Amino acid sequence: MHTEQKATNITWHSTRVTRKDRESILSQSGTTIWFTGLPSSGKSTTAFALEYALARRGFLSYVLDGDNVRHGLNKNLGFAAADREENIRRVAEVAKLFADAGVIAITSLISPYIKDREFARRIHAEAGLGFFEVFVDTPLDVCECRDPKGLYAKARRGELKGFTGIDDPYEDPPKPEIIIQTHEQPPEKIAEQIIDCLIEANRLPIKGKAVQGR
Ligand code: ADX
Repeated sequence: MHTEQKATNITWHSTRVTRKDRESILSQSGTTIWFTGLPSSGKSTTAFALEYALARRGFLSYVLDGDNVRHGLNKNLGFAAADREENIRRVAEVAKLFADAGVIAITSLISPYIKDREFARRIHAEAGLGFFEVFVDTPLDVCECRDPKGLYAKARRGELKGFTGIDDPYEDPPKPEIIIQTHEQPPEKIAEQIIDCLIEANRLPIKGKAVQGR
């Protein structure tokens, strides 16, 4: 819907600084780690724990959090299917730019529809950038029990329409790179597991020891 090319007379400008140059300045490879799951599944908690664990090891990452991004870049979008699609499209494009800059982009969005997540995956693959999908597989009853913002309760009372998991769908990822269970382990432990998986998948160069004193 928002994806048609409207601008005309535009040309692509090239840079003399290559992606390799940027990666060597940062001593890391850019990649995107895409968290997806129900509201209150633990995406943001885990994403920020991962950002912290990476920083302690000397890696630069940045969390593009759904709630945060909706305060600025995506403040004109709501929760109808077309708006969610545009939300995911914009964040996928921004994550791709971050990854191209050599940064580890961490996204934390419900991103409920398979086709939108596949779009994010495809544009990274086309650009030769890593994409690592993390399914935060927390059962609905656990998410509903947590309900820190009281939104499940509102949706159950019929005061909030189109809430994911209640009266709007969430499509489980068929082939995520990793599945995590936030109701069984603390976020710090899960962050370590994700880092291990990234190293195993060759998405993270092994650097020196963790940065001390933080
Ligand atoms: S997404 O579906 O477009 O990926 P996103 O992750 O950006 O959603 O935003 C989800 C956040 O918006 C939730 O944490 C919740 O606080 C809030 N929210 C408000 N209305 C809804 C709704 N109808 N469905 C889901 N989340 C909602």
